[in-house]
Amino acid sequence: MSMIRRPIGIFDSGVGGLTVARFIFSYLPERPVVYFGDTAHVPYGSRSRRELIVFGERIISFLLKLGAEVIVAACNTSSSVSLPVLKKRFSVPIIGMIEPGVRAALKATREKRIGVIATEATVNSGSFRRAFEAFDPEVQVYQQACPLFVPLVESGKVDTEEARQAAFAYLKPLQEVGIDTLVLGCTHYPFLTPVLQEVLGPEVRIVDPAEEVVRELVKALGNGCGEHQGDCPERQEHRFFASGPTTSFYTLGKRLFGEFPFTVEQVNLDHSEGESTISWIMLPGNSQPGLEGGN
Ligand code: DGL
Repeated sequence: MSMIRRPIGIFDSGVGGLTVARFIFSYLPERPVVYFGDTAHVPYGSRSRRELIVFGERIISFLLKLGAEVIVAACNTSSSVSLPVLKKRFSVPIIGMIEPGVRAALKATREKRIGVIATEATVNSGSFRRAFEAFDPEVQVYQQACPLFVPLVESGKVDTEEARQAAFAYLKPLQEVGIDTLVLGCTHYPFLTPVLQEVLGPEVRIVDPAEEVVRELVKALGNGCGEHQGDCPERQEHRFFASGPTTSFYTLGKRLFGEFPFTVEQVNLDHSEGESTISWIMLPGNSQPGLEGGN
């Protein structure tokens, strides 16, 4: 009997979720992934709660149509702002970023002085502060919003003087209060890890929550989450979708994985009430990322 495996659905505002996908590829190599990067609406960090709920609903509905068995909200902003509502709306298990990030930070910290860098929406939501308090009330948490980082990453400017200057400015207040651990509270930020570590020096531990998120995912799948819901997909390979520009997938995908041998399909979900109204544009493969024509 052939074994059909249903895909893991992942979404983010753009390429940030690729930093989570890489751990899914290594922990669950037999699993197909369907990835949605909402590049038409990036950055999410300055979006309202209502917008984030609407985007999340459309994306999750789309991923479910492709047979997703479980959803990873590979976006701290969505995890902080819209996830409680989305979890009520959908019966599929949805795994978020915040609690796993807090668990990973608590394992890493020596002095319980933890910095969190994240989008404005994540910082304003108070999600990290609440989760740290719930896990360990003795921890000192210092948060810093970094609105320039996501546009820098999406435009591929990760190893630039501009990124270094921004990192200096954002990290200074956290260095002044003496953090010993820094949580990357946005999935785009691991692309900036070398610059961040250079600015912070070797003493401060940088924590990427992604691996802990994937451990939670593996556990959920082990518990048979979502089994036998809906149809099995016909295609068993990874698929990547973006609602807007796709270039960043190719340039940053290559940086992360060495190669990015996938075609990113462009899908506009903006007016989607149902499958029939989703407009779908096939783009050229990764050999010609500059040729994308927009909507
Ligand atoms: N990568 C997302 C996050 O983890 C969203 C960043 C953004 O689009 O502002 O928060």
